[in-house]
Amino acid sequence: MKYPLDPSDRKPIGKTGETVSAIGLGTWAIRDYNKALKTYLEAVELGIDNIDTAEMYDNGEAERFVGELIRRAGRTRIFVTTKLLPHRFRSRETAVKAAKSSLERLGVKEVDLILIHWPDDLVPVEEQVRNLEAIAEEGLCRYIGVSNFSREEIERGRRVLRKHDIVVDQVKYSVLDRSVEKDLLSYAIREGITIQAYTPIEKGSVARVDKVREIAAKYNKTPIQVALNYLISKPRVVAIPKAERREHLGEIIGSMGWRLREEDLEILSRL
Ligand SMILES: NC(=O)c1ccc[n+]([C@@H]2O[C@H](COP(=O)([O-])OP(=O)(O)OC[C@H]3O[C@@H](n4cnc5c(N)ncnc54)[C@H](OP(=O)(O)O)[C@@H]3O)[C@@H](O)[C@H]2O)c1
Repeated sequence: MKYPLDPSDRKPIGKTGETVSAIGLGTWAIRDYNKALKTYLEAVELGIDNIDTAEMYDNGEAERFVGELIRRAGRTRIFVTTKLLPHRFRSRETAVKAAKSSLERLGVKEVDLILIHWPDDLVPVEEQVRNLEAIAEEGLCRYIGVSNFSREEIERGRRVLRKHDIVVDQVKYSVLDRSVEKDLLSYAIREGITIQAYTPIEKGSVARVDKVREIAAKYNKTPIQVALNYLISKPRVVAIPKAERREHLGEIIGSMGWRLREEDLEILSRL
């Protein structure tokens, strides 16, 4: 399936009317928090305002790191997403309690977006999503979403929501792993759900793919920039690479502000 080219480097978050930078930053497996803080502060200065974390990352340390980033950069300059573990959503009480713990680590009264990290096998999706909505009803997050949910799981979940809608599905998506293009992406585009693409550079290995390198040379860009540009050229898709090294950030930022041509997107979509 062919998707229209998205020329914008800010992307809508669901149908909320809000936008975030097409490239955000993840916070999984940070090695040196002091060094990372400098890089992430610079990223915010350069216009990256979309930061992803999770209670699971480094046992809450990544959320504390984002809390420090918020204090240093200013709350209103960052759209923060966090993710709670699936078993939290087995009851309203455990979901709300886990959300409060995350807010404490983040040092905020309300986070922008809370996701179910992945679907829980033991509880129907409908129940999980209702308990997720309870967090928003308590005023602890502005928006709700999911991660690693299939199209069918999102459809089931959305049917039972009362006041809120699922605004994001955070899923693995890279030029080397395009399984979301089977049917999730077209559904998300049609329904106005944002896809947050995680592991979007396959830990750097997209840079070793010959076709990606060839295309990069044509544009005078790097392979990493081409691989990220492929993702953000799709409507509704934002990418959230993780980069604590300053030089990596510089390269990642250069993936925004231009677009691959249709013929090259086509080549990449056949890798
Ligand atoms: N929802 C989920 O289930 C889920 C699962 C996985 C990940 N995520 C989220 O998605 C984020 C990103 O995914 P990821 O960390 O798995 O993978 P990734 O972004 O594909 O790769 C991150 C790795 O690539 C390196 N890197 C960054 N820029 C680079 C560049 N320009 N050239 C070469 N290497 C570069 C980083 O190094 P440095 O850090 O040293 O700069 C880091 O080691 C995570 O941090 C997390 O927030 C969510």
